[in-house]
This record gives sequence, C-alpha cells and structure tokens, in this order.
Amino acid sequence: MDLKLNDKIVVVKGAARGIGRAIALEFAREGANVIVNNVIDASETLMEIKKLGKESMFIKTDVSNMNQVKQMFNKVAKNFGRIDVLVNNAGVTRDALIQKMRVEDWDFVLNVNLKGAINCCKCAATYIIEQKYGRIINISSIVGQMGNVGQANYAVSKAGVIGLTKALALELARYGDITVNAVAPGFVSTEMTRRVPEKNYEDVYRENTLPQAGRAGGDRLSRCVPSL
Ligand SMILES: NC(=O)c1ccc[n+]([C@@H]2O[C@H](COP(=O)([O-])OP(=O)(O)OC[C@H]3O[C@@H](n4cnc5c(N)ncnc54)[C@H](O)[C@@H]3O)[C@@H](O)[C@H]2O)c1
Repeated sequence: MDLKLNDKIVVVKGAARGIGRAIALEFAREGANVIVNNVIDASETLMEIKKLGKESMFIKTDVSNMNQVKQMFNKVAKNFGRIDVLVNNAGVTRDALIQKMRVEDWDFVLNVNLKGAINCCKCAATYIIEQKYGRIINISSIVGQMGNVGQANYAVSKAGVIGLTKALALELARYGDITVNAVAPGFVSTEMTRRVPEKNYEDVYRENTLPQAGRAGGDRLSRCVPSL
C-alpha cells in the first residue's frame, strides 16, 4: 500500500531508541525524510535513516524547554522548507505510589510528556496552518485511558495528551487538510518498561490486546498499538 509519504518532512521526537526510533525508521522506509529529535545522542538512528537513502538531521533538544523547541522548528523550516508530520513520542516515567511521589517526579513527567507535546504542537502549528496541510501524531498510552498503580503522574500526562489531541484536532481542522491523532500503545518492551518489576507484567499483559509485550522495531508497530 502506498502511504504517500515519499519525500514528506517528518519530525520524530525522542527517536534515539525504542518506539520513537522504530517510528522514524518506518517513516524512512516509506520514503519520508526524517528529522530525529532527542535530548540524548541519536546519531545511530540518523545513520540508519541515511542508509535507507533518505535525508535526515539530528537536533538535540529538550522538548520541555520552549526556547529550544522554537529553535528546533526554525532549524527544520530553514533546512527542509516545511513540516508535514510531527510525531510527539518523547516520554519519561518516574513511578511511585502517591504518598511517596515527590513534587520533582510530578513536574519532570508532566514537563516532558505533556508540556513537551504542547510546546511542539504550538510551534508546528504555525507552519502547518500556513501550509494548510499537516499531520500531528501524539503518543499517549493505555495508562492514560485506564490508569495504573504507581503511575499517577504518567497517567495524568498521557490523559492530558489525549485531551490536547482532541482539542487541536477540532481547532486545526478549519485551516485545511490537517489532522491530529493519538495512539495509545499497550505494553511494549523498551528501555522505559525494562524498569517495570516482573511481577507487574501479568497485570499489564491482561490489559493488552496481545498476549505478550510488543517489540519496538521487531513487530510492525501497527500490530502492537491500538489507535484511538
Ligand atoms: N514502552 C511502552 O510500553 C509504552 C506504552 C505506551 C506508551 N509509551 C510511550 O511511547 C513513547 C516512547 O517510549 P519508549 O517505550 O520507546 O521509551 P524509551 O525510554 O525507550 O524512549 C523515550 C525516548 O524519549 C527521549 N526523551 C526523554 N526525555 C526527553 C526530552 N526532554 N526531550 C527529548 N527527548 C526525550 C528519551 O531519551 C528516549 O529516547 C513514550 O511517550 C512513552 O510514554 C510506551
């Protein structure tokens, strides 16, 4: 199936590893040029995209910092001329039961997962509205829909991402062929979930549509992530 992604300009946040890296590579395989964002080094993803014959650029940015995000989008626009797709994938966890959750844990998770998505949507919207075309894909989580013990901060951030998605889908549609969607993955085996104690796995699998964890990059993502 032709997904009509050839030479589209795609920005993937948090693409150094895990789900973000798999998304970035899949876009490149479908013919898109992919800008790789991360707060840590993501040059391996960049090299793999280039090996696939597509243009790429690594921009080191902390998405929770609005000034850095503005600079990132300016750089993308200057070098590629447009922004067709934004994937808000960067995410973090700082799990603890509510009594033990520190204010810093709330702030950190909300700042990266929710404020990071808001910052990037805000900056991308300027270009997308002008182009009258764009796709924003926000990576939420099944935890944002169902909650999870020890993840109040993460659940709030991912539920917030769903609210952000719904509001912007309505707001931006009036400007042209612009869509804003969210994907809420179940349990995927990545660096993030390696920290989840094994005894919690059984409950997580029960919540999933598949009887085992998805693998970022191993399975085609469409097989392991139910979309909203
Ligand atoms: N793994 C799962 O089971 C699962 C399930 C549902 C949703 N998700 C979501 O999928 C997304 C990817 O998660 P993953 O499992 O691949 O985890 P991961 O930890 O492997 O990847 C997250 C990436 O985000 C980057 N990042 C963190 N803070 C950042 C910041 N401030 N600025 C830019 N980049 C930053 C990290 O460096 C990392 O590369 C996250 O939003 C996560 O919440 C994961």
